[in-house]
Amino acid sequence: MISYQNLPVLITGGAGFIGSNLAIRLVELGARVTIVDPVVAGCGGNPSNLAPVRNTITWIDRDISDAARFASAIREAKLIFNLAGEISHIHSMEFPERDLLINTVSQLRFLQVCAKENPGVRIVYAGTRQVYGKPDYLPMDEAHPIRPVDFNGVHKYAANMYHTMLSRSGHLDAVVLRLTNVYGPRMALQIPCQGFLSTFLRLTITGQGLQVFGDGKQLRDPLFVDDAVDAFLQAAKSKIRFREDRTYNIGGPQSLSLLEIAQTMARMGGNLPVTLREFPADRVSIDIGSYSTDSSAFRDSFGWRPRHSFEDGLATTLAYYRSNLHHYLDPNNPQPHCGLPEHLGIQHRLTYTAV
Ligand SMILES: NC(=O)c1ccc[n+]([C@@H]2O[C@H](COP(=O)([O-])OP(=O)(O)OC[C@H]3O[C@@H](n4cnc5c(N)ncnc54)[C@H](O)[C@@H]3O)[C@@H](O)[C@H]2O)c1
Repeated sequence: MISYQNLPVLITGGAGFIGSNLAIRLVELGARVTIVDPVVAGCGGNPSNLAPVRNTITWIDRDISDAARFASAIREAKLIFNLAGEISHIHSMEFPERDLLINTVSQLRFLQVCAKENPGVRIVYAGTRQVYGKPDYLPMDEAHPIRPVDFNGVHKYAANMYHTMLSRSGHLDAVVLRLTNVYGPRMALQIPCQGFLSTFLRLTITGQGLQVFGDGKQLRDPLFVDDAVDAFLQAAKSKIRFREDRTYNIGGPQSLSLLEIAQTMARMGGNLPVTLREFPADRVSIDIGSYSTDSSAFRDSFGWRPRHSFEDGLATTLAYYRSNLHHYLDPNNPQPHCGLPEHLGIQHRLTYTAV
């Protein structure tokens, strides 16, 4: 077991879904955890996510683009887990400049400060399989062409490249984990447009029927969040020489159709109905069809593999929301709310101190 005892670590996006699960695990492992997260409107940050460790961690309530203001925390960190970001593909199409600022400009500014204040620091960045676009073949490996179908994929790819380019030039020591769809406790059920797993879970936990777009045959390989956290922890402290492109696909244990996923949730949620419906026109252009991950590069180098079947992970997830739903949704009106102004001619506003 890799030791994190007493290690100072920084987690960007630490109030969000994956970041908070990572923060909790790192506290359990004895690390000294600092998170950076201003709980950006429309993203999945939620102070309740951090309830188990709130008195143990340091929370910097700032945007990562304002990294010069927390330079000392960057200097002190032995490891940086960089999970700050917007995950919604639909938000990225509705508000592309907001997505650019959150997923790309913020990252550029943050990484410049990291390179200056803590040269050569190990950073594990949460990349996404969305950069690939529609698969030419399955399971998809890292050699697949990059053809994103939405702004989120383009912007996350630019940030991916910032990490690897600054590592090639010796300024950082970054590794990028391209995640498939992750699910588990602390997902932002309160926010719409966070992907089908979040929508299915919201409907299941509130006892509503599930609707699947199209014929339901599209494949996905959902990854339980504890397994994603394992991957971050293994990559962060590994002494193994990274692949040249410093990028690894991270996928789930099983390929399941959307219909199978919905039916499993509906059954475990109390035999709820599942129906098929026509694909909405605004989703067709950003739908990638079937996807499954070839994680063998990461698995073979790091010995990582997902430990949770979909049913196991789902049982843990449903148990969490049965006890904690009120932290996410109003039980009397369990509608998701975006938190974004209706007509987002507005930008995501970055606070910024020049480096
Ligand atoms: N959830 C998934 O299935 C999935 C899949 C692929 C990749 N990822 C990547 O993993 C990361 C974490 O995803 P998540 O599901 O936990 O999302 P999330 O929305 O739950 O959490 C993201 C957190 O980042 C914070 N944040 C956003 N912009 C920030 C900024 N500029 N400065 C500081 N904090 C900022 C938000 O406030 C939020 O708390 C993201 O980068 C996402 O692209 C997630």
